[in-house]
Amino acid sequence: MSKTFYITTPIYYVNDVPHIGHAYTTVATDTLARYKRLKGFDVYFLTGTDEHGMKVEKSARAAGVTPKELADSVVTRFKDISKLLNISNDDFIRTTEERHKEAVRHIWNTVKANGDIYLGHYEDWYCTPCETFLTKSQLADGKCPECKRDVEKLKEESYFFNLSKYTEPLIKHIEENPEFIEPKSRANEVVSFLKGGLKDLSVSRTTFSWGIPVPDDPKHVIYVWFDALTNYLSSTGYPDGEGFEKYWPADIHIIGKDILRFHTVYWPAFLMSAGIALPKKVFAHGWWTVEGSKMSKSLGNVVDPYEVVDEYGADQFRYFLLREVPFGQDGDFSIDALKGRINSELANDLGNLLSRTVSMIIKYRGGVTPAPSTGKDGEAEAAINGALALLGDRFDSLIGGLNFSEALEAIWAVVRELNTYVEKSAPWKEEDSERLDNILYTLAAGLKVISAYIGPFMPESAQKLRVQLGLTGELADGSFDEETRWDASVSGLTVEKTGALFPRVE
Ligand code: ME8
Repeated sequence: MSKTFYITTPIYYVNDVPHIGHAYTTVATDTLARYKRLKGFDVYFLTGTDEHGMKVEKSARAAGVTPKELADSVVTRFKDISKLLNISNDDFIRTTEERHKEAVRHIWNTVKANGDIYLGHYEDWYCTPCETFLTKSQLADGKCPECKRDVEKLKEESYFFNLSKYTEPLIKHIEENPEFIEPKSRANEVVSFLKGGLKDLSVSRTTFSWGIPVPDDPKHVIYVWFDALTNYLSSTGYPDGEGFEKYWPADIHIIGKDILRFHTVYWPAFLMSAGIALPKKVFAHGWWTVEGSKMSKSLGNVVDPYEVVDEYGADQFRYFLLREVPFGQDGDFSIDALKGRINSELANDLGNLLSRTVSMIIKYRGGVTPAPSTGKDGEAEAAINGALALLGDRFDSLIGGLNFSEALEAIWAVVRELNTYVEKSAPWKEEDSERLDNILYTLAAGLKVISAYIGPFMPESAQKLRVQLGLTGELADGSFDEETRWDASVSGLTVEKTGALFPRVE
C-alpha cells in the first residue's frame, strides 16, 4: 500500500468570480499534488466552494437571484477555471451538498455532546466581508482590522463554542509541532495571538437563514466558518466513510495568509473538541497585488485568469505564479513581468534548447537520437552530470517544503548548464562522429530529465517536450525517480519537430 497524501485548497466564496488569487492557491496545491503522485503517493486533492453565509446571501440579493442560484452559476466558473489551468483535483466539494451538511451536523452534535457548545447572547461587532466576529477593542478606527471595511453591531441569541478552553492546548500543540504552521513567522503570529487569550466563539446566527440549520434549533444557522472548515472532513466521508479512515488527517491545508487564524485556531480547536486528529500542516502563502496596487473591483484591476491563459497559455501562467515570488511572501503581478519570464526563461532558455536539439538531431542524424559513445565523455558532460546530481539532491526538500520558486530556479540552473554545453561543444563544428553522437545524446537525455522535473509545474508542456523527443506516454504515477535518472532511454527514438514549446510574446 502506498503512502497517502491528503492536500487541500481553501473552498472559495461564490460571491466573487475566480481571480489570480484563487488561481494561485489552486495552482500551488496542484503542483505539490502532481509531484507527490509522481513520487508514488496515493494523493487525495480537494478543492471546492464555500456557498453559505451572510456575504453570499447579500450578493445574491443584490444580483436579484437566490443564494443557491448564485452559487450554481459561480461554481461553474470555478470548475471551468480548474479545467483551464489543468488542475488535477480528486474531488470538488460544495457546502450546499447533502454529504457536507450531514458531516457538519455530525461534528456539531459531537462537539455539543462533549460540552463545548452552549446557548448565550452575542452582543458585539461583525464584519460580513470577512465573516468574522469582532470585539470593540479589535476594531481599527471603528472598521474591520483585516479588510478595513465597515462592521455592523449584532445583538442576538447565539450558540457559543468553548474556544477559551483550548487556548493552552493550542499553544502546546503549536510549540510541540514546529511543522504545524508554516512559514515559521506565521506560527509566531498565531502564538502571540493565543497568548493574548481567547474568548468563546459565537457559532450560530439568527438574523438570516442562508446556512445549515442548527440541529434541534432551526431558527439558528451554523456560523459559516464552522460550516466551511468542515469541508475538509466531509469530502472524505466523515464520520464513517472509507476515505476518512484512509486519508485523514490531512497532510497539508494550503491557504492564503488572510485566513490563517481560522485554520490554526478555530479549526484545530473544533477538531480537538470533537476528538479528531489535527491536520499535519497549514501553510499560509502571501498576497498578490497588481501593478503595485491592491486588487479591487472598484479599481478595476482584478486579474482574470481566463484572460491571462487565453493570451499567454496555462503553463506560462502556472510557471509565472510559482516562479515570481517565494511561496509565503507577498508578490506583485504585472503583464510586463509575466512577458519577461515567458520570453527569457521559457522561450529562450528552455524552448530554444529543445528546438535546437531536435533540429540538430534531424539535421545530423536523420531524426533519430544516437546512443552515447563510450569514452567520449569529457569535462563538459561531467559538469552537466554534476548540475543534475545537485538538483536531484535538493529538489525533494525544495518542492516538499513548498519552496516552488527555488525549485524552479534549481531546474533552470541545469537548463542553463545545457545551453552553455551547446555553445561550448559547438556540435555544428564537430568532425568526430562519435563525439557528435555523444553531444546530441547528452542534450536529449538532459531534456528528458528536465521534462520530469517540470512535469508538476507545467504538465502540458512537459508532455509536449517528451513528444518532441519521441517519448511515448505520460509521466506515470510513481515514475519520478526513474524519469529523472540519467539513462539511454532516449537513444534510438525518432524526434518530432512540432513547433515552439513556448512561443515568444510581444
Ligand atoms: O476566504 N493573493 O474564501 P475566498 C493571494 N471561503 N491569494 C489570494 C488573493 C490574493 N490577492 N485573494 C484571494 C474564503 N486569495 C473562505 C475560505 S476555507 C475553509 C474557507 C486566495 O473566496 C487565498 O488562498 O475569500 C485566500 O486564502 C483565498 O483565496 C480566500 O478565498
